[in-house]
Amino acid sequence: MNTKPKGFSYVKTNFNYISYYKDGKWDEGTLREDDKITISGLSTSLHYGQECFEGLKAYRRKDGKVQLFRVEDNAKRFQMSCEHMVMPAIPIDVFIDAVKKVVKANESFVPAYGNKDTLYIRPFMIGIGDNLGLKPASEYIFSIIVSPVGPYFSGPVKPVDMLVSEYDRAAPNGTGHVKVGGNYAASLYARLSAKKSGYADCIFLDPRTHTKIEEVGVANFIGITKDGKYITPKSPSILDSITNRSLKWLAINELKIDVIEGDIYIDQLNDIAEAGACGTAAVITPIGSITNGNVKHVFPASEVIGETIKKLYDLMTGIQFGDIEDPNHWVTIL
Ligand code: PLP
Ligand code: COI
Repeated sequence: MNTKPKGFSYVKTNFNYISYYKDGKWDEGTLREDDKITISGLSTSLHYGQECFEGLKAYRRKDGKVQLFRVEDNAKRFQMSCEHMVMPAIPIDVFIDAVKKVVKANESFVPAYGNKDTLYIRPFMIGIGDNLGLKPASEYIFSIIVSPVGPYFSGPVKPVDMLVSEYDRAAPNGTGHVKVGGNYAASLYARLSAKKSGYADCIFLDPRTHTKIEEVGVANFIGITKDGKYITPKSPSILDSITNRSLKWLAINELKIDVIEGDIYIDQLNDIAEAGACGTAAVITPIGSITNGNVKHVFPASEVIGETIKKLYDLMTGIQFGDIEDPNHWVTIL
């Protein structure tokens, strides 16, 4: 079938996975066709944001097979998020098995090889049940819904413009490092304001000093310095992006360039030649300019994707779609 995605919008597929936690244990978990969930209006996920999620993709290879990228890393990060939200963790092998099951059941929805479309996989956990006071729920749902998708932003060729947010997405010692709904709820207003003004997304500064680049709305920030180093912010309140981790590895081991994890001051961007946003949905989206108040900083690579980010993009997507040999056991062929 190979359904064509509608950008990054939901297209219903045949099956989703659902598992219930009650009386201290998870049930077997099943695949089902209905993608609706009926829960109590007093669910902790609805009132207190007790929930977390993941995002990963299934890729169609040239030989027609389907593969996952670093699924174990998503399983581990999901466990961290569950722990932080005081929710019962899903064992790594159960998470991986559930992802495989739901992708296989929807194989015909994995887009054809060739134009970088993929099947987006959204595992999530929600606190449910009749709760009124603020405390962790005693019942949960773990579910996985998938949808064919295209790139989140306009694509790799034309760099996008971003606006610095005057709001924070996460507190200095808050939940910025885990993938929980509250971070995204906190970012909605800033993202919408940026989009209304014609920007692709917003950039959040560090919540303690508001002087350093912290995070893009739905991705990590990366840059290539004028002397050819890969630079990305180091902060306890950003999401440890699996894409960024992979790019750092590729920068060091394939491009043989240095990687700096450190401070990127918003008023000192002159050293950066190429900038980008990286993540599962964003892949690597080049950033052409960043506007902070009334100052617009335009990067040298503002019209077309920069040379080094392009090399990283080609390596990364080459591995993800199976065109380049997987150097690190990142890939799981189904
Ligand atoms: N930062 C934020 C806020 C995100 O939403 C995402 C997307 O998942 C990322 C970074 C990138 O993480 P990953 O590469 O693991 O998808
Ligand atoms: C992802 O890249 O998987 C994300 O979770 C981003 C999402 C908020 C669209």
